Amino acid sequence: MQTCQRLSTLREQLNQERHAGKRIALVATMGNLHEGHMQLIRLAKAQANFVVASIFVNPLQFGLNEDWEQYPRTLERDSAMLTAEGCDLLFCPTENDMYPNGMETQTKVEVPTMTNILCGASRPGHFLGVTTVVAKLLNMTQPDIAIFGIKDYQQLTVIRRMVEDLSIPVQLVAAPIARAEDGLALSSRNGYLTAEERPRATALYQALVQTSAAVQAGRRDYAQLENEALAQLTQVDMRPDYFSIRQAKTLEPAAAGDTDLVILGAVYLGKTRLIDNVTLTV
Ligand code: PAJ
Repeated sequence: MQTCQRLSTLREQLNQERHAGKRIALVATMGNLHEGHMQLIRLAKAQANFVVASIFVNPLQFGLNEDWEQYPRTLERDSAMLTAEGCDLLFCPTENDMYPNGMETQTKVEVPTMTNILCGASRPGHFLGVTTVVAKLLNMTQPDIAIFGIKDYQQLTVIRRMVEDLSIPVQLVAAPIARAEDGLALSSRNGYLTAEERPRATALYQALVQTSAAVQAGRRDYAQLENEALAQLTQVDMRPDYFSIRQAKTLEPAAAGDTDLVILGAVYLGKTRLIDNVTLTV
C-alpha cells in the first residue's frame, strides 16, 4: 500500500489509476481502525478496484470541550491493518494540508436540515465540520463510490443529503454496523471505556433491540417507549443524551403510520459518549 500526505501526490496517483480504467472507492476515517472500518474496506474492494482510505482527525468537527486532543492516533497500526486488507492507497493529510488557509476562514458546506437535531443538538457545529471535510475529501479523491457506516446513521443521512443537494458525482454505499459479541457497536471511542464500564456498555444496544421488538409487536406509543428506554438507561447509570424513534429517511419524529423507522440512541457512560441505532420496517 502506498501512503501520501499531499493533495498533489494524491491527485497524480489517482489520475494514473483513473486513466488505467480503475473504479475508485473512498473510505474516509479518523483512524484508530477497528473491524467496523475493515468491513468498509472489504465492501470497497468488492465494488471497486482501487481503494483509497483516508485518515484525518478532523478538528473542524470537534467541539471545544470534546476529545480532539485525546482522540487515539495509531497510524502505524492502522497502516498495517489497511495493508493486510489490501487497501491500495492511504491518504493522511496534516491539518495544514486539509485547511491551508486556516480553519477560521475555511469555506464550509452546510446541510441546513437534520443537522441541529439528535447528535447535532448536543454537538453544535459537528455536522458542519463533517460535511465540510467529507465534501473536501470527495473533491480531493473524486471517487466513483464512497463507503460510510450505518453506525453513524445521522452522519450518513446528512452526507446523502449533501451529495444530492450539491450534485456530487459519487455513489454512496452504506455499510452495516459491526458489533462486538455482546452487541456493542464497534467504535474508536470504546477504548475510553474502563474495564468496569465496558460490560455495561451493551445496555444501549439492548434498549434499542427491546424497543424495536416492542414496535414490531404492535406498539405505536412512541413517546412512551422512548421514556421507558430513557428510564432503563438511567437505571444502569448511563446518562442518556437522546433516545428517539424517527422516520428512517428524513429523521423526523415517527408518527403512527410511518413504516420505515430508525431508533437512535446516544448516552454517556462515564466520560465516553456512545451512539447506536437500529432500523426497522413495520
Ligand atoms: P470514523 O468514526 O473513523 O468512522 C469512519 C467510517 O467508519 C464512518 O463511515 C463510520 O460510520 C464507519 N464506522 C465506524 N464504526 C463502525 C461500525 N461499528 N460499523 C460500521 N461502520 C462503522 O465517521 C467518521 O470517522 C468521520 O466523521 C468522517 C466521516 C471520517 C469525517 O471526518
